[in-house]
Amino acid sequence: MIRDKADYLRRVDEAADYLRSELKDSGIPEVLVVLGSGLGPLTDNCEILKSIPYSDIPNFPVSTAPGHDGLLILGRLSGSCVLMMKGRFHYYEGYDLSEVTFYVRVMGRLGVKTILLTNAAGGIDDVTKPPYFVAIEDHISFGCESVLRGPNIDEFGPRFPDQSFVYDREYLDILSSCAEDLDIPLRRGIYAYSKGPQYETPAEIRALKLMGASCVGMSTVPEAIAASHMGIRVVCFSCVTNMAAGLSGGQLTEEEVLVNAGKASDESCRLTTEFIRRITNSKGA
Ligand code: HPA
Repeated sequence: MIRDKADYLRRVDEAADYLRSELKDSGIPEVLVVLGSGLGPLTDNCEILKSIPYSDIPNFPVSTAPGHDGLLILGRLSGSCVLMMKGRFHYYEGYDLSEVTFYVRVMGRLGVKTILLTNAAGGIDDVTKPPYFVAIEDHISFGCESVLRGPNIDEFGPRFPDQSFVYDREYLDILSSCAEDLDIPLRRGIYAYSKGPQYETPAEIRALKLMGASCVGMSTVPEAIAASHMGIRVVCFSCVTNMAAGLSGGQLTEEEVLVNAGKASDESCRLTTEFIRRITNSKGA
């Protein structure tokens, strides 16, 4: 939780100022892509203009999760400059939510207008075999302390932000039409946040299903709330890598998550690339 708002804002702005000077040759990209499991190869297929280790960015946390490298990459994707985060921060790693969302605040202060969040998730549908994709149209955050708890930083956004449209409707439609044109099955659904690091119990999954959740994961929601608080457009898709607890008859393993994220990697990258192409061509980012 943020306790000293002047100090937090100062630390965010220090990081943003550093990035502004690092990015002065290219200008500030309008879009940030957060590379969830399976999306790492996106940076292999784009022209990398700059790669900034998180450890070089003042006040930035350093990621501890396996497979999360901790690099902010400036690359050219579909002809447009975008920022890509390779490695994010999870509450289960021990970070405070103000640290989990620090990068979002920095991006907002830097002038980034859109964040595409991607993640791996457990599927609450017991029929479809993973991997498959869900475009997130809303979330259930009950399991999560609010990232906005504590003193409000008015420079970021209002004290009581509306949550009716956390996920941008226009971009959701664009994402759906990209998937349709690429022949990638993409359904819409609700993401339920789970603090982790333990997977959910079968009883928790049954409860989430009754609440209307389509998938469950341990990231994204704090970041989406912080971004929408700042007026950043948020768009998100999940790669469902496993049936959620109790639905497959077997046990959940990290290996299954990583294997299925890998299997879906090519489609994840194509969907992201096409989405970036459409939104940057229409908005000229
Ligand atoms: N639960 C929570 N997080 C996840 C899961 C899951 O089943 N799969 C991938 N991330």
